[in-house]
Order: sequence, then structure tokens, then C-alpha cells
Amino acid sequence: MNQLEELDKLVSGVDSELESVNDLNELQQKKANYLGKKSILASISASMKDLSIEAKKEVGMKSSKIRQLLEEKFEAKKKAIEDAIVNKKLENETIDVTLPGYKLPVGGIHPLNQTIMDLEDLFVGMGYKVAEGPEIETDEYCFEKLNLPKGHPARDMQDTFYINPELLLRSQTSPVQVRTMLAEKGEPIKIICPGKVYRRDADDATHSHQFMQCEGLVLGKDITLGDLKGALLEMFRKMLGEDRNIRLRPSFFPFTEPSVEVDVSCGLCGGKGCNTCKHTGWIEVLGAGMVNDNVLRMCGYDPKEIQGFAFGIGVERITMMKYKIDDIRNFYTNDLRFLNQFKEEK
Ligand code: PHE
Repeated sequence: MNQLEELDKLVSGVDSELESVNDLNELQQKKANYLGKKSILASISASMKDLSIEAKKEVGMKSSKIRQLLEEKFEAKKKAIEDAIVNKKLENETIDVTLPGYKLPVGGIHPLNQTIMDLEDLFVGMGYKVAEGPEIETDEYCFEKLNLPKGHPARDMQDTFYINPELLLRSQTSPVQVRTMLAEKGEPIKIICPGKVYRRDADDATHSHQFMQCEGLVLGKDITLGDLKGALLEMFRKMLGEDRNIRLRPSFFPFTEPSVEVDVSCGLCGGKGCNTCKHTGWIEVLGAGMVNDNVLRMCGYDPKEIQGFAFGIGVERITMMKYKIDDIRNFYTNDLRFLNQFKEEK
């Protein structure tokens, strides 16, 4: 019986033919040859119509068995090829965990931010809270409620950038005092307010049209100028060194009465006198004073019940003293040679 022999021949050759195949396309091709519409198997099935019923049965059973066997063989081969591909891929993607990693360049903390973080740390340690306010401020909060009515000559010191007659870029962080006092409604306060401020100044080694301040405000019963001096002495010693001293000189700010200018002993000569301190032994660093009764009243406080002090630290100033930087513009020009000096090696 011709067809039966042909069927046997089909199976006997397939193993050796599959052995050399190791590519899915080629396998597909071969599968079509063996099992497709134009395959030997298909032509055997087609030729069956001429056989006797007995022979049809025999050939039919055998060809369906062989079809199944061939399909299994092709399926097994397909799986083997796919496994081989995956294994090869895994082998290529093996990670050598002993190789050194890439060192990605990372930035550092800007010295001004570092100073603000240090100030926050040390004042929070003394029980202060950190408050913030907007850089676009109203004339009312930046000046009027700080006892600087329109036309007051002291406004000259803080000429700034106006958006319209009532809105401006804040020239000081003191309006955050006002905002906090209005929000606290007569309750005691202990805050610092760090942030950016703006003034209509020409930029040079010691002036910038935008710089940073850190305002402090403490209000409570029986707060005195002595408390102010104690807080500032502590701040300077922690920021610049335990050997520093401070002194208070009379000054004027419309929002404080009495007002003081605070000097810190020169770090270069230790107070003996040198070029940096113009041979005085002292360097002027900040303004401060007891909050003016008018300001207390305008912000909802009764000066007979609650008093307190305020101070305004120049963040650039104190950073320049700490790191002996002689030009304020270094902070803003983003020169990596400058900035990299403050980077901690990681
Ligand atoms: N805000 C003042 C300034 O920028 C500094 C200051 C703050 C003075 C608080 C006294 C009290 O000049």
C-alpha cells in the first residue's frame, strides 16, 4: 500500500531533518513542507478518495496519527529553539556586580541655603518657628504697618521695584512679622523668617538688587533688649565661632524703638584691629530693636501687655564673614569653580 509506505517514510526522515534547524523561520518553512496545504501529508489525504473503504480507514487513521506525531515534534523543536534564544539572551545580559559603578556628577548645597539651614537649625533649637511670606508684597505690609507711612523719609533706604502703587517686591522680610502678628491675634510669637528681598541698588561687590534676609521676632510678656542680645550672641557664636563677641549701638528703624545696630568682633584680627574691620575691631552686621508700640498696635497687640524684639540678619553678609568671601556677586553668578568649594565629597 503506497500511501502507508509514504507515511512511514515521512516520519523516518523528520528527526534528522529537524536536528540541523535552529531558527524559527526555517522551522516554519519545514513545518509547511510536512504539514501544510501542499505537503506530502496533504497529498496523501487528497489521494485517499480513490481507495477502498477498508484502505481509506487504515490510511486515514495512520495519517492522522502521523499528523499528530509530526505536530508534536515540530512543537517540541519550536520550544527548544525559543529556549535557546532566551538562554542566549540571558547569558549576554548577565550583570557583573563586581564592576565599578558610574560616578554621576551631583550638585552641592548653595552656601546661602546652607546658611539658612544652619540658622533654622539653631533658632529652632532655641524654640523658634520658621515662618514664610510672599516675595510680592503689599505696600501696607512692607511699609505702612511697619510704621513707615507713605512719604516717610526712611522709605528712601529701601527703594524697591513696584508692580503698581500698592504692590512691590518686598525690600525686607519684616512684612512676615506683620503677617504673623495679624494671624496670631495678640498671642506670644517666636519666629524667624528667611527669604529673598529686593532693592533698587546697583550691583557691586557689596550690593545686590536681590539678596536674602532672615528676620527674627519674639513677642511675649517682659521680653527685653537683654533677651535680644542673648539670642544674637548665641547665634553669632554658633555661626562664626565661640570666640566672637557682639556690641549694640544706637540706631534708627521706624519699626523698632529703641533700635540698635549690632557689631560682631572681627574674626580676622580677633578684635585688635585690621584692614577688614577698618581698625575698629568690630564689623557692623545687622539691625535690630524692640518692636515699636505703633507696630504692635497696628498689628493687633497691646504694648502694655506684650513686648518684644525683632532683628534682621543679612544672609549674604554672615555667609561672607563665615567663608571669608569678598564679593557678593559670587553667590549669584553660578561659577562652578566657586560653588564646588562648598560641595561635600560624597
Ligand atoms: N528690616 C530691616 C532692614 O532690612 C532690618 C531690621 C529688622 C531692623 C528687624 C530692625 C528689626 O534693614
